[in-house]
Amino acid sequence: MLDAARAFLVRKEIEEARLEGELLVAGALGLSRLELFMQLERPVTAPEVDAARDALVRRGRREPVAYITGSREFYGRDFQVSAGVLIPRPETELLVDLVRDWARGREHSSPLRLADLGCGSGCLALTLALELESPQVLAVDLAPAAVEATRRNAERLGATCEVLLGDGLELLLSLAPFTVLVSNPPYIEPKEAAELPPDVREFEPELALFAPEGDPDFWLRSIVEALPRLIEAEGRAFVELGWQQSERALELAREAGLQARLHDDLARIPRVIELGL
Ligand SMILES: C[S@@+](CC[C@H](N)C(=O)[O-])C[C@H]1O[C@@H](n2cnc3c(N)ncnc32)[C@H](O)[C@@H]1O
Repeated sequence: MLDAARAFLVRKEIEEARLEGELLVAGALGLSRLELFMQLERPVTAPEVDAARDALVRRGRREPVAYITGSREFYGRDFQVSAGVLIPRPETELLVDLVRDWARGREHSSPLRLADLGCGSGCLALTLALELESPQVLAVDLAPAAVEATRRNAERLGATCEVLLGDGLELLLSLAPFTVLVSNPPYIEPKEAAELPPDVREFEPELALFAPEGDPDFWLRSIVEALPRLIEAEGRAFVELGWQQSERALELAREAGLQARLHDDLARIPRVIELGL
């Protein structure tokens, strides 16, 4: 079955055919990839073969694996995702590392209040709720599917997090100040949509991907402008950037008189801007 899955995905020009075949077959059998390898000799039933075939056909039409299996790993934990919720990306894990390191070096003993603007699956807010020492965490998103996913993931992972539906900045300003603001805001120009892989363009939510037409820095500028009202005097914001956004991001921060520092991801792309007052 695994060989057939891989061969099918190769024919469909899926790059990681072996890995994805394993993930999809495991998902169809209701197993993790590890469990699948521990049961390689187990006979499969006709309904299981049908489920695996359905999953492979969906992937052949470019639907992302995470939407087919219903989950994606982020920072060592499984996050459930469904249509309408952005699939967590590995480069976003850098934000978690940066906040963890910053929080560890913090001298203040007051409770750390953290806000996640545009929480999606909850990958950032919930990972930080679990990784930091008793923080108060608030996650907001304008998409009902994202709010629902974050609440469900919080329950599954045992994370304590308040999750609110609404227009992010407005909501956060009414509840500010926070010690830390994290955000991975939409930063792709709608006119670049044609260049995105079909897996992303045709399946992931537009609200999560695209900045307003002609203004890829919309979210960063909004955060920069609101920052003095959003964070505490000693607080920080960590915002994920698009791969060509870093110079403009630094310029925006300088113009606003903020402290700013760029952090590279593993591919040496400046991926996160750290902002302070
Ligand atoms: C790039 S996704 C990031 C999701 C998640 N934080 C992650 O890193 O996987 C951006 C998120 O911002 C949300 N969003 C877009 N406009 C918003 C707004 N006006 N207020 C709140 N959230 C918004 C989208 O629904 C989406 O979930």
